[in-house]
Formats: sequence, C-alpha cells, structure tokens
Amino acid sequence: MSSQIIPVEPFDYVVFGGSGDLAERKLLPALYHRDRDGQLPLESRIIGASRTQITDEDYRAFARQALTDHVGAAALEDEAVERFLGRLHYRDVDARSDHGWNELRGLLDDGGQDRIRAFYLAVSPAIFGDIATRISEMGLANSKTRLVVEKPVGRDLASANDLNDVLGRHFREDQIFRIDHYLGKETVQNLMALRFANALYEPIWNSTHIDHVQITVAESVGLEGRVTYYDKAGALRDMVQNHILQLLCLVALEPPSSMTADALRDEKLKVLRALEPITAGNVEQTTVRGQYRAGASSGGAVKGYVDDLEGSSDTETFVAIKAEIGNWRWAGVPFYLRTGKRLTQRMSEIVVTFRSIPHSIFDASAGAVAQNQLVIRLQPDEGIRQWLMIKDPGPGGMRLRHVPLDMTFASSFRTRNPDAYERLLMDVIRGNQTLFMRRDEVEAAWRWVDPILKAWEERAVKPQGYTSGTWGPSGSIALIERDGRTWHEPE
Ligand code: BG6
Repeated sequence: MSSQIIPVEPFDYVVFGGSGDLAERKLLPALYHRDRDGQLPLESRIIGASRTQITDEDYRAFARQALTDHVGAAALEDEAVERFLGRLHYRDVDARSDHGWNELRGLLDDGGQDRIRAFYLAVSPAIFGDIATRISEMGLANSKTRLVVEKPVGRDLASANDLNDVLGRHFREDQIFRIDHYLGKETVQNLMALRFANALYEPIWNSTHIDHVQITVAESVGLEGRVTYYDKAGALRDMVQNHILQLLCLVALEPPSSMTADALRDEKLKVLRALEPITAGNVEQTTVRGQYRAGASSGGAVKGYVDDLEGSSDTETFVAIKAEIGNWRWAGVPFYLRTGKRLTQRMSEIVVTFRSIPHSIFDASAGAVAQNQLVIRLQPDEGIRQWLMIKDPGPGGMRLRHVPLDMTFASSFRTRNPDAYERLLMDVIRGNQTLFMRRDEVEAAWRWVDPILKAWEERAVKPQGYTSGTWGPSGSIALIERDGRTWHEPE
C-alpha cells in the first residue's frame, strides 16, 4: 500500500519565531517534506517573522542550512530545495510595538484575501497574547485565519485561563490550534487504529483484564540551551501536563462516536476529569521528583543539572506518578507515568499489562507464565508488539516461552514515517482540530496538575538526585515495586 498525498488549499504560513530553534529543527524541515511530497500548492508561501533584522535572502540561507542539518540526505533534492526556498519570505516584527506589522500585512495582502492565513506562534509564551492581539488589531486576520500556539499554555490553571481569554477575545475556538506534537506521532495514531479498528482489544480493554498501564517518556538529552524556560517549568509542567496526559487519555478514553475533533476531545476531557486528585494527603505515596546529577549520557560524561544551570535549584528533571482514573472502566488500574531528562536512553512507550491467568495447568518444568503485554513504542523504532506465551517449538516437552507478535509495519509498507509536525502543520491548513487541544482540555489538565505542584510545596517534597544515564531516582523504582510490579525493561 502506498501513502496518499492530498494537496491542501493555498496558504500563507507565518511563523513567528521564524529564525528560532523550533523553526530550524522542526517546522521548516516538516514543511519541506510536505512540499517535496507534492502537498503544497504552487502559490503557497512561508513567511518567517521575528525581531531579528534580516532580509528574505538571509532567511533563505538560514532555511537552507536548517534543511541540510535536519533533513536526511536521501530526501534532499536540489529541485525540491530550490522550490521550497522560493516560497520563503521574512519580515522583522516586534510583538510589543507596531514595528513591522504594516509591512507584514502588506506582504499577506499581496497573496489576496481568500488565501488561508496560518499564524504559528513558535515564541516564548510570554508574548503569545501580544502577538494574537496585534494580528487581530493590525488587520492581518482574514476569514480563513488560523492561530497555532505551541505549549506551554500557561504555567498553572489561572495563567492558562488568562491566556485563553486573550486568545478568545480575538479568535474563535475553532481558529485556535493548541499544538501537542505527541498527538501527531505515527504510533499514537496507530493506537487509535488498534483500539477502534479491531474487534479484538476493546472487549478486554478494562479493569477486568488489564492489570496496569505504564507510560514512559525518557530522554537522554539535558537542557539543550533552554535553561531559563526549563528551570521555571520542570518535568511535571513540561511533559506531564501535556504530552503524557494526552497519551493517557488516548489509552483510557471511551470509544468516541467518530474521529471528528469534538467527539474525540469530549472523550479525552472525560478522562482528565476522572483523574483521582493527588493532594498533600497522598503526594508522597504517589509521586517522585528527581534531578539529574553528573554521570554519563549519550556516550560521554555530562554535568549535573545545577552545573548546567550554574546555580542552585529545586526544579525536577524527572517525575514518576501513580495515577488513577475514577470511573467504571479503570477503577483499581494504576497508570504509572514517568519522564525525565538525562536517562539511560531516548525511549517513549506505553505498556499495557494484562492480568495473570487465573490458574496454570502447567508443571513447574514448563517455566513461569508471564503476563501478556502490549508494548506501544513511540520512539525510537516505532511499532507495536503484543507479547504472548507460546510453547517453545520443537521437542523437549512442554516448555513455555514469552514471544512478541510484531506489528511494526512501516518497513513492510516501505513508507517513511512522517515527523509529527508534518501531519499537524497540514491539519492546521485543513482546519482539522482532531489532534489539537481544546481549551477545556488544557484547563482540565491543569486542574489535576496544580494540586500536585501545591502539594509538593506544602509537604516540601524536594527532588531526589539521580545519576545521569540511569533510569531515574531509586524512589521511582520503589513507587512501582511497592505495588509488586516493575518498570518495563526496554527490549
Ligand atoms: C517538548 C518539551 O515539548 O518535547 C521538551 O518541551 C522535550 O523538553 C520534547 O525534549 C520531547 O519531544 P520528542 O518528540 O523529542 O520526544
């Protein structure tokens, strides 16, 4: 089966923070791939915007370098690169003054009023509101405008509310695309197919058959130059409030009636609202904070967090949580969540462990009967494996063996797995919000996270140190082992 490319309507994509890190590493390469695959109409343009004073030509040189650094050599074709660079423009604008806005509007007007205008805010959240206000008040929006905001949307419920209010003053909810790039990952999409395009799993997808769920998002990198942002955020705000809770929602939600944006988001919202609160009374039993110390990672010696920071800090770079969902389907099924920087390896996966068989008919000589596990690997080596018990083939009596049924099909279909941003950037143009967070979801996630932050403060829960290159602090192992379970060892 081959992949299908459906061209989108003509658009102008304005990327605020156009010369920044996200544009360089993700957005420009993603748009290039879509262009190379023939999805972008000829007249579509990409306009970088930021305070840096550079020309169109400088911006094209920046983009050329970004493609060289972040697109694999096999996908870099001269003709496609030149066509892509030809779409690029640049305007210097200041979010906090009128500087540059008339020029940007002039450039957009050259493309006509009928063209889709997407404004991507790849900038500090501190200026989301200023930019949204200026887009509206300086007359840059047309009837086909979309506004894309990167996370974080706020740093707690109150600030998320304030920001959403400002955005809502200038744009309708159906024009606001709150991006969570985890939702665009190929395997996350596949999780939906697995659950809802097969009759097999859904009847056993509940507390009667599932023992527990683990969600791990491990990174081997450290701060990557984002010191100021990260130290104010920490792992709970940076990864759990958004990416991990979104993954948890997709595992736990009830079958939506369709894949339409609101049908799916209604169900995710119900999951978020059903999360059992973690407060000062149970925070020490259900959460672990960690902070990396010096050690070895990605093949070399690395400094500890406070040395990276050049100061002291109580910010967590690791968090593990035992979460529970208070509803009929999931009562009593723990969801163990963990994420951290400078861990052993980059690895994100969801592991669904089924209950043990009620009674074994086999002799001890057959070996132990392991619990069935469904391992959904998001990265690297994306794929899904269902672990089953079989009889060890061949003679030698009844011996049992735990083997994976491999459902990793990308190589058999010989397709390239698109980066999450490719899909999401095009969904914005298509006006499809299915994989974007609605206002009430973001706020429900904060409603669960805020009390954890408060409880840590009240109970003075400090991060435990862990050596870089390990799987986090010992408290994380204790958190799950207390329940007679262990973290899934990556294969
Ligand atoms: C971002 C976080 O949202 O996701 C980063 O702010 C993190 O801290 C990144 O490194 C991880 O994304 P991915 O796709 O590399 O797993």
